[in-house]
Amino acid sequence: MKVLIVGNGGREHALAWKLLQSEQIEQIVCVPGNGGTASMEYCQNLPLAVDDFDSISRYALEHGITLVIVGPEVPLAKGITDYLQNKGLMVFGPIRAGAQIEASKAWAKALMQEAGIPTAQAAVFTEAKAAKSYVKSQGAPIVVKADGLAAGKGVTVAQTVEQAQSAIDAIFEGQFGSAGEFVVIEECLIGQEVSVLALTDGLTIRPLLPAQDHKRIGEGDIGENTGGMGAYAPTPIATPELMARIQSEVLEKAIAALKSKNIDYRGVLYAGLMIAPDGDFKVLEFNCRFGDPETQVILPLLDTPLEELLLACVEQRLGELPPIAWKAGAAATVVAASGGYPGEYTKNQAITGIKEAEKTGATVFHAGTKLNQQQQIVTDGGRVLNVTGIGENFQQAIAQAYAGIKHIQFEGIYYRRDIGHRVLSGKQKEQTP
Ligand code: AMP
Ligand code: GLY
Repeated sequence: MKVLIVGNGGREHALAWKLLQSEQIEQIVCVPGNGGTASMEYCQNLPLAVDDFDSISRYALEHGITLVIVGPEVPLAKGITDYLQNKGLMVFGPIRAGAQIEASKAWAKALMQEAGIPTAQAAVFTEAKAAKSYVKSQGAPIVVKADGLAAGKGVTVAQTVEQAQSAIDAIFEGQFGSAGEFVVIEECLIGQEVSVLALTDGLTIRPLLPAQDHKRIGEGDIGENTGGMGAYAPTPIATPELMARIQSEVLEKAIAALKSKNIDYRGVLYAGLMIAPDGDFKVLEFNCRFGDPETQVILPLLDTPLEELLLACVEQRLGELPPIAWKAGAAATVVAASGGYPGEYTKNQAITGIKEAEKTGATVFHAGTKLNQQQQIVTDGGRVLNVTGIGENFQQAIAQAYAGIKHIQFEGIYYRRDIGHRVLSGKQKEQTP
């Protein structure tokens, strides 16, 4: 098989790395890819924009690409799957109508309410005055969300009414462009967040191992929200009993609701959940793609060949496959970020120590990196590398990730030293899948 992967993050490097472990995979092309995908054997980068559907489809048709896998939400929301399928290509990732589940929070909220999926109470507004008076009537803390895609920056968990009101103003004043035509205002939930990514072919839905992300920039989960500073799987808070409830009360209901709207949803359905201290849960959001950095801890534990699962989703025969097989043990990833992220940061800093990190047994996935003209790996984004450890338990996996990342150096490197603090503190009981 020849596979084309759309995207340039750690998630896409992890997808390419996993696929290349199978003898079925002959060649991978990443559009546009990063320094990691450029350096891997049997893998190359193609410098096209992720929304240049015409060039991507021409390349794929001319080069006999068997399967296109779409990583990020933006091309999915713009209809890349519909476009490439019309050209006769096989594409893993939902069609545009399905991607609305991530691309419009108001649409997703209505779907959840119709389907009876547990979610935070919410109201949708099209202008600031009504939104602000609603916030006043509800009080703080309260959550303000821009409706559309905002690269993870569209949500404010406001601790005061004033903070919520300025978030409303910023959205309606156009901070997020057309993503801010609607504002969703939600009750603030407390608890622990869990990411449940599931594969679906529109009929069958198979969850992957549950993962836990660390969204905040600072140790102790403080400071600004980021795309994710580290993750681990399988998170023990998602017990088998809880996973069974998520399957029937969230995932199956969502697929049924999509089907009732004539949406044939095939790809990843990712439910971001808040687990309350009493163990009950609500859906915070749905995503229409693999999570990043969750994928970097889920795929190393996957035993079933990834391409078999993805093809079965595209060809609507997931139900014919045996249950997904997993390796025992745990995985953890630590994100090395550019100093200043999620705010401003510099690029083009030389990175050293990747080989030394790999010698410890850790796996280094590249995110914001590129090969410069001298063929050196340099920084090219906020989240630069994901150093992943695998072990028999969380202690080992986390220790391996940190033993690896110690060797990585670039100007301004920052990483959290407390990834996995919840599992290590014993607040969550360990369990193997
Ligand atoms: P979203 O893009 O909707 O997942 O929101 C991004 C992040 O904001 C989530 O991962 C949570 O950390 C936080 N968040 C979103 N909705 C809520 C809510 N209703 N209550 C508390 N935190 C929330
Ligand atoms: N790690 C969060 C996300 O992929 O949306």
